[in-house]
Amino acid sequence: MFDRLDPAPADSILGLTEAFKRDPNPRKVNLAVGVYKDAQGRTPVLAAVREAERRLLAEGEDKSYLPIDGLPGLGSQVQTLLFGARHPACREGRAVTTQTPGGTGALRVAADFLARIAPEATVWLSRPTWPNHPNIFQAAGLRVDVYPYFDPATHGVDFQALLDAVAQIPSGDVLVLHGCCHNPTGADLTREQWTAVAQMAAERGILPLVDFAYQGFAQGLEEDAQGIRILADHCPEMMVASSFSKNFGLYNERAGALTLIAETDRAAAIAQGHVKRVVRPNYSNPPAHGARVVYTVLRDPQLRALWEEEVREMRDRIHAMRHLLAESLHELGAPRDFSFIVRQRGMFSYTGLTPEQVRRLRERYAIYAVSSGRINVAGLTQATVEYVAQAMVDVLTQGIPQDIPAS
Ligand code: LMR
Repeated sequence: MFDRLDPAPADSILGLTEAFKRDPNPRKVNLAVGVYKDAQGRTPVLAAVREAERRLLAEGEDKSYLPIDGLPGLGSQVQTLLFGARHPACREGRAVTTQTPGGTGALRVAADFLARIAPEATVWLSRPTWPNHPNIFQAAGLRVDVYPYFDPATHGVDFQALLDAVAQIPSGDVLVLHGCCHNPTGADLTREQWTAVAQMAAERGILPLVDFAYQGFAQGLEEDAQGIRILADHCPEMMVASSFSKNFGLYNERAGALTLIAETDRAAAIAQGHVKRVVRPNYSNPPAHGARVVYTVLRDPQLRALWEEEVREMRDRIHAMRHLLAESLHELGAPRDFSFIVRQRGMFSYTGLTPEQVRRLRERYAIYAVSSGRINVAGLTQATVEYVAQAMVDVLTQGIPQDIPAS
């Protein structure tokens, strides 16, 4: 059976990390995958996480199975993080949370659940979006389509086109939105725009499904939740896929959650039962350690304050790198205006580089970016930013600068 197979294409993001690891160039820089690096170029384990792990070890973590829907108690902590302490949906028991293996796991559980309860629904994705979004929904057997989102001329959201498209989405379809730090463009909706989308979704009976992987990386943990809170105020039903990979730095622990809001507490409890029915034949029940870390940090005021400070530090460093990259590009004579990099939010910058320019960055400079032109600004450091800026200027102007060796 296996002899007949043609090679499968590499993943458009994680495949680049595999290629990066094989690259012998000592100056190589990985700006492809969305993983945060500190000023020394390391992916830190947060101090709040280390302390939570110390406590968990001291208490003695058992290795028995978690329930199908995950660690008891985690759900209410996650809901508070998402909607605030007193949101009516949470108070009324209309919100239910399932702990999942990462944010991708949350999206896949949502997809499998939707394929079960609404197999005819089309899932609408922004153009552009995270390349794994279509994979996830199609793998669950759902149809996907796209709505316009980004305007390359302004480097911002093409909001009128977006709203016009949402106005045509049939009732019962699913609208995937990025809660903040839109991946890959870094262009987010304003408060007014969220309200208009929320009203439109409610009016038309469209189900919002929010991918919320970067809470805390745009403006703050509370500020970044503005969009989902507006949706929850307007829409009787919605879903949110949370990831703790980035804001807790728990990438390989696969910690995430799927939260569902229904119109009544009864409907929420029944929906949760169906969610559990799709989890069980998939991964049975989720991994415990990362979820326990998140739970320990969120419910302890001291650890939580430490974590919030660490999220702020990560956010500030990303902002600083944005400024430095934009300034370096300007000083090195970039043939176009890159000041938009400073306005984009989250880890990514959508540079406007073409796939060919991205290929040259990789082949000539061992700088890895996604072929869409997306770079992970959080992967830059003081030590690499100028090298990257010079290489970008070079591929844009087609020349090869003399002062930077190719390898
Ligand atoms: C990314 O977009 O780089 C991250 O979300 C990591 C991933 O799984 O693709």
